[in-house]
Amino acid sequence: MGKSKVLIIGGTGYLGKRLVKASLAEGHQTYVLSRPEVGLDIEKVEMLVSFKMLGAHLVPGSFTDYASLVQAVKLVDVVICAISGVHMRSYGILLQLSLVQAIKEAANVKRFLPSEFGTDPARAAKATEPGKVTFEDKMVVRKAIEEAGIPFTYVSANCFAGYFVGGLCQFGKIIPPTDSVLIHGDGNTKAIYVAEDDIATYTIKTIDDPRTLNKTLYIRPPLNILSQRQVVQIWEKLIGKELHKTTISKQDFLASMKSLDYAQQVGLCHYHDVLYEGCLTNFEIGEDGEEASTLYPQVKYTTVEEFLKHYV
Ligand SMILES: NC(=O)c1ccc[n+]([C@@H]2O[C@H](COP(=O)([O-])OP(=O)(O)OC[C@H]3O[C@@H](n4cnc5c(N)ncnc54)[C@H](OP(=O)(O)O)[C@@H]3O)[C@@H](O)[C@H]2O)c1
Repeated sequence: MGKSKVLIIGGTGYLGKRLVKASLAEGHQTYVLSRPEVGLDIEKVEMLVSFKMLGAHLVPGSFTDYASLVQAVKLVDVVICAISGVHMRSYGILLQLSLVQAIKEAANVKRFLPSEFGTDPARAAKATEPGKVTFEDKMVVRKAIEEAGIPFTYVSANCFAGYFVGGLCQFGKIIPPTDSVLIHGDGNTKAIYVAEDDIATYTIKTIDDPRTLNKTLYIRPPLNILSQRQVVQIWEKLIGKELHKTTISKQDFLASMKSLDYAQQVGLCHYHDVLYEGCLTNFEIGEDGEEASTLYPQVKYTTVEEFLKHYV
């Protein structure tokens, strides 16, 4: 059996661009949806052209043109969607319902990976409002996929390292400080950090793997299951300096939401659930899941220390 042909939707996005490159690197014929709405966004156009130069096929299509989605889907075996889920930029999760319909109609797709790549929404029933909307919407998409009988893999990628590790797990920070750091609660709650390029690599590894068919792939690199204090310690060792630490209680952190806009509130809730409630590490993977670094030990994942070295 040859390698599956892959369509990536949201290919110029933060995660999407990595998925395109990882798919090409693994030798898959790779198709990238090219939306007319991109218009004069020269950076997106430049990126699409660069994908083409790497060997990808650009497929014209739009969420506002259902027939174009069906046509695009018919070209491939596997569809991966990395449409935006971050409210700061835009919010596309529920747009996937028409994509699910298109995949059902095309009836040729062997695997669909919807835009998830974070906390497992099936385990987010206790998520904090208003952040819970992300998980509720992702569950709406899951329900549509399963009702349509579409083969799937859900990727639970835990914390994107760029957002979380870059800012030493501080909400609203993406560059590591060299003077002081705000510690969430006692700072000892464990979370899981994964470099975005590794998320893409594991995602592409899984698409032709029967072991993850109709399952959730959890990415839990063992060396990257760390508390905020451990992440800070790694950084302190790298820069040879101890940071001044202040702590913020759960109550004060949640209260600080009042001054934020809706998109930021959603983000703050996610940080709360990860760093105070331990929502990523308070469960064992069950029968319906597999762990990526165990399935694909050949992938040399980026440790938090290696990731932080980029900022020194
Ligand atoms: N675990 C974590 O820490 C974490 C952090 C961030 C995101 N995530 C998750 O990762 C996934 C991808 O997020 P991202 O940050 O990579 O997304 P993003 O960069 O904000 O957007 C991805 C792409 O979605 C497409 N898009 C945006 N608005 C659209 C619209 N109205 N219609 C059609 N397409 C639209 C665009 O692709 P094109 O222009 O190429 O079509 C865009 O580049 C989401 O599910 C998100 O929840 C997880």
